[in-house]
Amino acid sequence: MYLTKEEERMLNGEYGPAVEKSMRLLVTLGDIYGAERMVEISSAQIAGISYKNIGDPGLEFLEGFLEEGAKVRVPAFMNPAGMDLEAWSELGIPEEFAEKQMRIVNALKKMGVYAAATCTPYLAGLLPRYREHIAWSESSAVIFANSVIGARTNREGGPSALAAAITGRTPMYGFHLDENRIPEVTIVVEPEVKTSFDFGILAHAICKKFKKGVPYITGINPTHANVDRLKLFGATLAAYGAFSLFHMENITPENVEVPKERIHIEASDLNESKEEMGEKLDSVDLIVIGCPHASVDGIKRILKVLNGRRMKVPMLVFTSRSVRAIAKRTNLISELEKLNVKVIADTCPVVMPLEHLKVKRVATNSGKAVYYLPNTNKVEVLFDSLERLVERFGE
Ligand code: F3S
Repeated sequence: MYLTKEEERMLNGEYGPAVEKSMRLLVTLGDIYGAERMVEISSAQIAGISYKNIGDPGLEFLEGFLEEGAKVRVPAFMNPAGMDLEAWSELGIPEEFAEKQMRIVNALKKMGVYAAATCTPYLAGLLPRYREHIAWSESSAVIFANSVIGARTNREGGPSALAAAITGRTPMYGFHLDENRIPEVTIVVEPEVKTSFDFGILAHAICKKFKKGVPYITGINPTHANVDRLKLFGATLAAYGAFSLFHMENITPENVEVPKERIHIEASDLNESKEEMGEKLDSVDLIVIGCPHASVDGIKRILKVLNGRRMKVPMLVFTSRSVRAIAKRTNLISELEKLNVKVIADTCPVVMPLEHLKVKRVATNSGKAVYYLPNTNKVEVLFDSLERLVERFGE
């Protein structure tokens, strides 16, 4: 693959071993996927932060990489960690876990990565522009950036996103190229899809009928497709179908030709998906909301849905520290706490070790959480809308 003089210098070790290793990884990836050259990126978003996921080998790799001089060249945000980085003891996180988690975060901070610890960087200060090349790795953020913003990224692994941050480059293949962003099938959505819950179910239903590629979705009323619903929709699509890009008529920004092949989604498909997602549980130990991380407006909406009702079952709302700071300043956090709802930052229900909370049964309104939680945290999961969860588990 073609490399500029600067990229060759990186590969030849002129900027030290960390840059050399990073460039070697990216060149290898580029060769595998047939990239002709590198492209400069404007930002990176790095997954694989939780000690629960990467363990001691990941921690040792990061500390060693730092010693070799790893330093990011572009703005880079961390994905959620395995705990709230400030209030971890309140969540029953053992000290040994917390100590190792902080070492991971500190190693990355010393490399220049912002400890934003969020899967919604676009709500927390890292907002790419249309057509900008980026290297992000969290699947829900990747699909949002590609589809809703129209930026360009592949679904990077943690190491390749870090390598991209260190070199400021990524190999030009996949979704960085126009030809791979063309939709193949038109998904015609017949029933009205309105609420966040509907959007999650629709994503599941699409994944059952269209397994791979880029869908073009029609039939959604743009007034219903707000940022919160689109992020929930994309996260579920990326979880059940490993999709990284969708186009939605009159909603997403890319101007593409409408594919002739059509797949219809009917009301019966949505009902079927609703039945299939999650377990039928009469009781739960915990309710988790904010997967992907909640926006300020999303937090405000929870308060509105609660309408003064206290939760019998504790509810955790996950968000970024910066969104939490705004919610706190707006008194949303204190109002929610009175109703047995806690807003926690820096972590997520999937990468946090829920076993320390002695939780066996969880309820959520997130299709992505339904998909991952049974495996990552060995819990049974009930899937329902926020309104019905409040109805069922509120006082
Ligand atoms: Fe975010 Fe964790 Fe869900 S990273 S999308 S809250 S699984």
